[in-house]
This record gives sequence, structure tokens and C-alpha cells, in this order.
Amino acid sequence: MPVPQYSPSSRELDDVELIVSGALPGPLNADGSSLTLHLPATVEETAVEAGAVEIVDPEGLPLARVSWPDGEVTGLSSPAYGPFRRLYLTPSHTRKAYAGRTVVPVTDALTTAEIAEIADLGPVLLLALVGHGTPALSPVALLRATLLAAETLPDAAVVAVPLASHDDAEADHALGVAVVEAYAGGDPIHALVSPASDDYPAEIAAVIDSDQPAPEDQGLVIFFTGLSGSGKSTLARALMDRILEQGARTVTSLDGDVVRRNLSAGLTFSKEDRETNIRRIGWVAAEISRHGGLAVCSPIAPFDATRQDVRRYVDDAGGAFFLVHVATPLEECERRDRKGLYAKARAGEIPEFTGISSPYEEPADADVRVDTTGRSIEEALEDVVNGLREAGYLTVESARPDQNEGRVGSS
Ligand code: ADX
Repeated sequence: MPVPQYSPSSRELDDVELIVSGALPGPLNADGSSLTLHLPATVEETAVEAGAVEIVDPEGLPLARVSWPDGEVTGLSSPAYGPFRRLYLTPSHTRKAYAGRTVVPVTDALTTAEIAEIADLGPVLLLALVGHGTPALSPVALLRATLLAAETLPDAAVVAVPLASHDDAEADHALGVAVVEAYAGGDPIHALVSPASDDYPAEIAAVIDSDQPAPEDQGLVIFFTGLSGSGKSTLARALMDRILEQGARTVTSLDGDVVRRNLSAGLTFSKEDRETNIRRIGWVAAEISRHGGLAVCSPIAPFDATRQDVRRYVDDAGGAFFLVHVATPLEECERRDRKGLYAKARAGEIPEFTGISSPYEEPADADVRVDTTGRSIEEALEDVVNGLREAGYLTVESARPDQNEGRVGSS
């Protein structure tokens, strides 16, 4: 039985890297430990049979072998991905290069006051804790900011440590203490007190600004979900037109029907293929948001878990995710039946039709919920535009009173 390969989440990759580097003890999934690895059911089955799973990086390079189910980790090769890779040293390499320095853990850009505080400590090692979810800035921005601070200090070295957050303050604190002690190896550790001021040297302030754009400059994914015929496409189209008329941003449309003719051509309406379809849309939308772009998606997206995946992709890419539930009831969608699909579905000619013979899971996390029944496009659009404006993402002007008012058609 060949050992299966698995490319885990960023958080899990960080945990594996820290265990392989010797900064944290294994095994994964030990009782009471927050260092966990979750395998999808199919991978898990083969891993149990083979007695192990091979952890690969996003490009497929094998990083570690994890015995399964006991979770013992053995390193296979050093990670090679990511900016500033040269700064990621193991505790033993760090000891060899920098023993005798005061170790200062850093999770945010250093303020002018903190840099002055550190300057009095003598030779220091700035330990940038850049694992998934830990730093206040993106990992690359924290490293750029910390390197800039180091340049202004009399004698400072910078080492990057992939200490991830596990969304559990107590466990994360304990992990942080263990990791910093492993890197310090008995040298003094200096904890910075929370900054009393947010005054930064100019170059560091510029790093922070470019890493945290104002909401209206941030990448944005506006995701419409709802039944066929609910008005998703019509609303999405109207919103895009409104944005384009203003000329401040370009827009990429990822409409359900359109995507199924190109990006997702050949997929069926089985649960599995719908999930693949939505993840593809989410993946592309997230990439668009990575560059500060705007994507407007309008598939049915009937499953909550897949919508959550998309939210995560966008979040990881640094974009904002805005979910609009076009909550027009089934009876109204069926009454409109512009494409005649509901009639066919009722007649049993289209299997697995959403709302008839395939489920639609209503979102509990929508930013805006809009029912288009008996309303004009402009009226319904106003709810979406107001929601976006309140969230600070878009400063779309309200409709002018002389604008033509049409009825919402089909999605
Ligand atoms: S999704 O479920 O994967 O999100 P998507 O938005 O791409 O669906 O496609 C939905 C469109 O496909 C509908 O607007 C409708 O025109 C068409 N369609 C064809 N078969 C089905 C079906 N079985 N269920 C839902 N929509 C279908």
C-alpha cells in the first residue's frame, strides 16, 4: 500500500514545520495538544492502511512523513516556499549563529518607542512570529517591517518562526512560550509591553499602509447566492453596471451559468460537481482579490460548507468577502420560471434540481438578505449597495431618481 500524500492547511503546515525544526515536540493529535492534523476521510483510510501519510507543500514537495494514526513526525526536506525563506532557521541553527543575544519576540510592526526600548538591550535577536494567524500584519509585511527596524538598531538579527495561531488564546500562549524558549536556549528573553503609542518610523508606517489598504482599496469578492430564478444574475449585473459607470474600479463577473460554459464546462449538478464548481469560482475570485480587484460571483452555491471554503480562500488572499443572499422564495422563482427549468424539473426531466430535488442550504452568515418579490431591480439593488456602503467597501452612489426602473427577471 503506497503512502498517500496530503497538502494540509497553512496552519497545519506551520505546525509540522515547527515540529520538524525541533522547536516543538510531537506527536500530532496527542491528547490535550493543539497541534493537530486533520485528514479527509479518503486520505485517512489509505494512511491507516499504509501506516503513514506524507505531508507535501503546496507545490507537492514532500516535507515530512507522519506515522498514522500515532502522529509521529519525521522531516524529509526543508520547506522551500515563501518570501524571506532564508530567515526561517531552526532553533539549533539559530543558536549556532546568534547565541548570547537577548531574544525579543515580535508579532507586530515595531513602534518608534519599542525600537528605542530594544536599542538599550545590547545585541538582540528579533524573533518574528509569522505563522498563520499570529502576526497583526501579513507574514511578509511583518518581516519587511522587522528588517527595517533591525537596520536602525545598533546590533540586531532577525529570524522568522512559523508559529501559527490555533484560535485558543491559552493554548497559543503556551505554544508561544515553548517555541520562544526553544529558540532562546537559555539566553534572556525580553517581552515588549503593548505599545502605548502608534508612532512608527516613516518606512515602517509605509509597510503597514500598503499591507492594510483602506476598505475601499482592498480586494473584494461580492458573492450572490440563491435559487435559480431568484434574481442573482440580474442583481449582480446591475451592481456591476453601477460600479462600471462610476469608473473607479474594474470588475470580473463569475456568473453561475457563464462559468458553467467555460471554467466549469463538463461538470454536472451532482453535489460533488457543484462543490467543485463553487470552489473554482472561489479560487479565481480569491486570486482577483489578492491584487485589490473586485469579483462579483452569482452561482446558486447551495451548500454552506462550500460557501465557507470560498470565504476562507478570499480571507487567506487578503480580500474581503461580502455575501448576499438573494432570498426570493421558491414559489416566486417557480412562478417566474423564465427558463422553463422548474416545469421540466417538476416533470422529472431535470434530475437534482435545486429547490425541487436537490437541497438549498440558507446562509446564516449573509451580509445582506434581499427578497426580490414584487420589487424593482433598482429597489432591490439599493439594499445591496447600502450594505456595501455601511461595510465601507464601496462608495457606490445611489440611483438617480430619473433612472429607468425594470422588474427583476430571472437569475
Ligand atoms: S451551482 O449549484 O453549481 O452553484 P450554478 O449556479 O453553477 O449552480 O448553475 C445554475 C444554473 O444552471 C441555473 O441557473 C440553471 O440555469 C442551470 N441548471 C441546469 N440544471 C440545473 C439543476 N439540476 N439545478 C440547478 N440549476 C440547474
